Amino acid sequence: MDRLIVRGNGALDGEVRISGAKNATLPVLAATLLADSPVRVGNVPHLHDVTTTIELLGRMGVEVTLGDRMAVEVDPGTINSFSAPYDLVKTMRASILVLGPLLARHGEAEVSLPGGCAIGSRPVDLHIEGLRAMGAEIEVDNGYIIARAGRLKGARIVLDTVTVTGTENLMMAACLADGETIIENAAREPEVVDLANFLVAMGARIRGAGTDTLRIQGVPSLHGVEYDVLPDRIETGTYLVAGAITRGHVVIRNSCPQTLDAVLQKLREAGAKLRVEDNLIELDMRGRRPQAVDVRTAPYPGFPTDMQAQFMAMNLVAEGVSTIAETVFENRFMHVQEMQRMGAHIRVEGNVAVVTGVDHLNGAPVMATDLRASASLVLAGLVAEGETTVDRIYHIDRGYECIEEKLGQLGASIRRVPG
Ligand code: EPZ
Repeated sequence: MDRLIVRGNGALDGEVRISGAKNATLPVLAATLLADSPVRVGNVPHLHDVTTTIELLGRMGVEVTLGDRMAVEVDPGTINSFSAPYDLVKTMRASILVLGPLLARHGEAEVSLPGGCAIGSRPVDLHIEGLRAMGAEIEVDNGYIIARAGRLKGARIVLDTVTVTGTENLMMAACLADGETIIENAAREPEVVDLANFLVAMGARIRGAGTDTLRIQGVPSLHGVEYDVLPDRIETGTYLVAGAITRGHVVIRNSCPQTLDAVLQKLREAGAKLRVEDNLIELDMRGRRPQAVDVRTAPYPGFPTDMQAQFMAMNLVAEGVSTIAETVFENRFMHVQEMQRMGAHIRVEGNVAVVTGVDHLNGAPVMATDLRASASLVLAGLVAEGETTVDRIYHIDRGYECIEEKLGQLGASIRRVPG
């Protein structure tokens, strides 16, 4: 397995360009199954999860070709299977996103249950209950979700928990249902809004995207379209923290600052000077040690759980004591033990980590356990004395395009060693 070797190399300074959002690309590619003609999706990041999604569509007989400028062209008309097999779903939970579109467009779907992952049990009960409310007959058998439906019917669905992919699956299914579907307690993430914008561009009728109540009026069909996904706010936040933790200066281009308010606010609290323009963010932390900042994760527009590990990394070397509360997933502190191996002072009490900033970290061999935890270990390695080897970096490749090249552009000492 590939490893990343990171050496503490002082303050980062430079510019980096943000790629398309992984968590918008995956639902948008799934939504192409709803169209009755070819679709072109642009600004697609080159990530393992995107490759997996393309492979999943290919397995269904859907013709997918890679266009120029990071574009993917999908012809859903060639589909000849409605199954998402375990060997693919086990590597990427987001495969569950084909369930709603397959049911809505073809009336049948067999999707492997995604199973849990490092950060939590990750059930999909709300996806299933919502589709049943729309008239689908769904059984779970031998680890597979077996779903059948005539034309889905509009329904009023109240989600017990705010779920991003649950909201996305139900929104996609509702686009072709008969009548109106109302989804209460819907997720408000920018990636949900981006998916809604894509669906509307294909002819869907959706109101309330970005609020906690979605109203979808079903239509007979959706047509092909060309659409670029929005920039990745979590990749943006990760590089901003890279600048802050190393007391450096970074300029982030092609970002979407208005999707990062909670993160930018916390960076200012940590002492960073920020200049924000339409699609540019400049962070300056030169000559200053970050101040410890308390973080409590929450559904959007609250502080994103996908930025929790990165802010913990910054707090490790900040001035003062901070608390990090993880309220979205039940087990998203897997990076704590690895950080402690680097000399971090962290005490975990339930879903709260108490971090006491130290003067320095020591490089060490550490192991990535999930996508954002692995990124946080790279961030810690940027400021640690000596060499940090981050193992199992296939996690990183799922969500960060060319991370060593982009960090290298900022002056980091980082290299990939094939495992
Ligand atoms: C999405 O995952 C993201 N993935 C995650 O990003 C992100 O961390 C998460 O939303 C929260 O923002 C994609 O968009 C592909 P949830 P998702 O359903 O949709 C519970 C990354 O690093 N729940 O919003 O799977 C669940 O257990 C990844 O890019 C149910 O109980 O997350 C969790 O506690 C990691 N029943 C909470 O809701 C359900 O049916 C939020 O999960 C569904 C979810």
